[in-house]
Amino acid sequence: MTSAIPVSQARISAIGTHVPERVLTNRDLERLVETSDEWIVQRTGIHERRIAANDEFTSDLCVKAVENLVERHQVRLADIDFVIVSTATPDAPFPSVASQVHHRLGLSRTAGAIDISAACAGFVHGLNMANALITSEQCRKVLVIGAETLSKITDYTDRTTCILFGDAAGAVLVEHDSKEPSFIRSVSTTDGSAGIHLYCSGIADRIGGKPILRNGKLVQNGREVFKIAVHTLVREIPPLLAEEGLTPGDLDLFVPHSANIRIIEAVCSRIGIPMEKVLFSATRYGNTSSASIPLALKDGMDAGKLKRGDLVLLSGFGGGFVHTSTLIRWTI
Ligand SMILES: CC(C)(COP(=O)(O)OP(=O)(O)OC[C@H]1O[C@@H](n2cnc3c(N)ncnc32)[C@H](O)[C@@H]1OP(=O)(O)O)[C@@H](O)C(=O)NCCC(=O)NCCS
Repeated sequence: MTSAIPVSQARISAIGTHVPERVLTNRDLERLVETSDEWIVQRTGIHERRIAANDEFTSDLCVKAVENLVERHQVRLADIDFVIVSTATPDAPFPSVASQVHHRLGLSRTAGAIDISAACAGFVHGLNMANALITSEQCRKVLVIGAETLSKITDYTDRTTCILFGDAAGAVLVEHDSKEPSFIRSVSTTDGSAGIHLYCSGIADRIGGKPILRNGKLVQNGREVFKIAVHTLVREIPPLLAEEGLTPGDLDLFVPHSANIRIIEAVCSRIGIPMEKVLFSATRYGNTSSASIPLALKDGMDAGKLKRGDLVLLSGFGGGFVHTSTLIRWTI
C-alpha cells in the first residue's frame, strides 16, 4: 500500500518517553553468556539496555511515557479521543494495554482504545492510523504509544538474541491541525513468508505451516532478518521519496527503527544518506522495538538535532515481515 496524504489535517504536537531504571550493560551480559562487549558493539552498536523490574509491565511504561509528555508539553488529557498502543509484549493477550492505559490516565469514557501488533513497525503504523482517524474527522486528538518489555520474552541463555533487546516506551500526541500538518506520504509492505525468521510463540505450534520452538521466548534467524531488513528499505525508500520529487539527499533526518547500527549503515550507504543524518536510540537502550523511534526522536530533539520544520523519514520494520516508511514534517 502506498498513499499520498495531500490533505492530512494532523500534526504531531507533543512527545514523551520513559525507560526502566535498571541498566544491563554488555559487561553484565558477559557474565550470562559467552560474548564480549567488543563483539556486541562491533556487530550491533549497542552498549547497554534497560530492563523492567519483575513487577513492571508494558502498561506501566506507557503511563510514565504519557506523564513525561504531559510534563514536557503541558497537555490536557481530558480531550484525547483515541489511544493506540503498539506493542509485541502486552501485559496480557486481552484486555489490551491501551484499555488499561486509558483507565489509568482517566481518559474520557468516549475515547477509543486499541493495541496494534506490527512488531518493530508498529509505532509508525500507529502514527499513520492516528493521521487517518484525524484527517477523516473521526477524532481530534490521538495518543500513539510504542512500548515494550522485551526482557520478559528474551531468553538470557541465547547469546544471539539476549544481547539485542531492551525495554522502553515512547508516546506522541497527534492532533487536528489543517494549517501545519505533519504527514506527507507513506508506504507499507508485508512479506508473511518471512514470519518464521523472527517470532515469539503463542498458542499455535507453527508459523506459515512450519513447526516452531514453543518456549514463549523471542526466536530469531539474525542473518535472514538482517538481509530482509536491508533489502526492503533499499527497495522501498527511494521510490517513496521520488513520488514527492525528492531524493534521499533532501532529507534533514532519517529515523529508522533502531534495530542494529549495521543494518542502518548498510541501508544508508546503498541509498545515499550520510550517517550524521540518522537518529539512533539503540546505543543506550538496545533494540526496543515499538519504542525505538519515539526514543530516538525525543533524544534527538533534546540534543538539538531534530528541529521544527525538519523533513524526516521514519522507517519501521520487523517481525512479520512488515515495514512502513512515512515521510513527515517535524512539527514540535
Ligand atoms: C544477530 C546479529 C548481530 C548476529 O551477527 P552476525 O554477524 O550475523 O553473526 P552470525 O550469526 O553470522 O554469527 C557469527 C559468529 O558469532 C557467534 N555469535 C553469535 N552471537 C554472539 C554473541 N552474542 N557473542 C559472541 N559471538 C556470537 C556465532 O555463534 C557465530 O560463530 P561461528 O562462526 O563460530 O558459528 C546479526 O545477524 C543481526 O544484527 N541481525 C539482525 C537482528 C535484528 O536487528 N533483529 C531485529 C530486527 S527488528
